[in-house]
Amino acid sequence: MKWVYIEDIAASKDQEVEIRGWVYNKRSSGKIRFILIRDGTGILQGTIYSTEKDSPLFKKFDELTQESSLILRGLIREDKRAPAGFELSIKDIEIIQIAEEYPISPKEHGISFLMEYRHLWLRSQKQHAVLQIRTELIKAIRDFFDNKGFRNMDTPILTPSACEGTTTLFETEYFDQKAYLSQSGQLYNEATAAAFGKVYCFGPTFRAEKSKTRKHLIEFWMVEPEVAFATLDDIIELSEDLITYIIERILEKNKKELDILERDTEPLERIKKPFPRVTYEEALAQLKEKGSKIEWGEDFGSPEENIMSEIYDKPVCITHFPAKIKAFYMQPDMERPDLVLGVDVLASEGYGELIGGGQRIHDSGLLERKIKEFNLPKEDYAWYLDLRKYGSVPHSGFGLGVERTLSWICKIKHIRESIPFPRLLYKIYP
Ligand code: 4AD
Ligand code: MG
Repeated sequence: MKWVYIEDIAASKDQEVEIRGWVYNKRSSGKIRFILIRDGTGILQGTIYSTEKDSPLFKKFDELTQESSLILRGLIREDKRAPAGFELSIKDIEIIQIAEEYPISPKEHGISFLMEYRHLWLRSQKQHAVLQIRTELIKAIRDFFDNKGFRNMDTPILTPSACEGTTTLFETEYFDQKAYLSQSGQLYNEATAAAFGKVYCFGPTFRAEKSKTRKHLIEFWMVEPEVAFATLDDIIELSEDLITYIIERILEKNKKELDILERDTEPLERIKKPFPRVTYEEALAQLKEKGSKIEWGEDFGSPEENIMSEIYDKPVCITHFPAKIKAFYMQPDMERPDLVLGVDVLASEGYGELIGGGQRIHDSGLLERKIKEFNLPKEDYAWYLDLRKYGSVPHSGFGLGVERTLSWICKIKHIRESIPFPRLLYKIYP
C-alpha cells in the first residue's frame, strides 16, 4: 500500500493508502470511532465503523492515547463535511508505540511549562503554523535574492573579531587563540561583494545580549545582502522590494496557517512600496510631539519604535543616525559628518526593527581613523582595510532578522515562538 502525506491526499481519492503519524485526538459516537491523525503535513480524520462492540479495530482504538504513533491503512474518500475535505475509511491500524500520558493537554499551560517542553510543544497547532510559515519565509527570501542574480556566499561563524560592537560577543577557544561567534556576516560579505558584485549570506548569528525583551534572541538567523557600487538609496529600495515580496508570498502560500493563528491579514495586504522615509532628526521631532523624552544622540528603544509604528501603517525607513550610536563601518554623510548613511526599517504594528544596514566607508584613511576611534585592534581588521586598497568602491548592504520578520507576519506575542529552539537570556534548555 502506498504511503502518502496528508497534504497530498487529494491525489489519492478513492485509493487505498497508508498514513503514518501520531494520534491527535479520538472520539466515539455509537457504532463509529474517529481518529484524528497528524503526520506533520496536516490532520486527517479516520473512521472505523462496526456493529460489533469488540471488533479488533475497536480494541486497538481503545488502546490509543494522545500522540501514540501509528500507521493507518484504508480508503481515501471525499467528504465535504470533513475538515480536510477527505476522510480515511480505516481498514487496518498498526500501532508503533503507545504514548505515555502526554504532558501538553488542550487546557491552558503557563509559558515556562511550555518552554520546558518546547520539544513537544512544537507539535501543537499554533506552533506548527508559525514554523510552517518560517519555512516558506526562508524559501521566499532565498528566491528573492536568487532570482535577482545575487550569489549566496556563506560567511564564517567562528571569527577573530567583532562586527557589531564588542559588548555582545560570545567568546570561545580556537586552539591557542580566542574566537567569537559571528554577530553578522557583513564584513566578510564586503569581501565577497567585491569578488561577485552582489551577494548574500544567510545563517545564524549570535549576540550575548543582556536584554530580556519580546524582540531579542541570543541566537537568530539573518539574511544579509551586500552590493558593490550601491548607495544608501539603492539598498533602501532593495529592502522595500524584499519585504513586499515576502509578504505577498506568505499571503499567497500560508492562508491556512495565518487562519490558525487568527492573524488579521488586512494590515499586511496594505504593505506596498514605497515605504515612508524619515531621517533620525525628523523622527526625533515626531517622537517629541507624541510626548517622548528622547534626546538627540540617543538610540531608539522599544517605546520609540512603538510610537513610530503607530504613526505609520507600513514599515518605516529611518536614516541618517548620529554616528556615535552606530557601528564603526558606517559611511558618514558628507554634508553632516556627525550623521551616518545608515537605515533601520521598523515593522508596522509595533514589531520593531526588521532591518539594519546602510552604506559602508570605502575610504581607507577614514576607515582606519574609525577603527582607532572605536578602540578596535587594527591588526584584526587588516584584511578588511585591504578591501579599501584594491579597487575600493562605494557599497551598501543590510541585514534582515528572520525571527523579527516572522513574529511580525504571524503577529505572535514573543519572538521565542518564531524559531524551533529559542536561545534566550540564561536559558539554553532544551
Ligand atoms: O541592526 P543589526 O545589528 O545589523 C547588523 O548586524 C548589520 N551588520 C547587518 C548588515 O548590514 N549586513 O541587525 C540586523 C537585524 C535587525 O534589524 C534585527 O532584525 C535582527 O537583525 N536582530 C535581532 N533579531 C533577534 N534578536 C536579536 N538579538 C537581534 N539583533 C538584531
Ligand atoms: Mg540595528
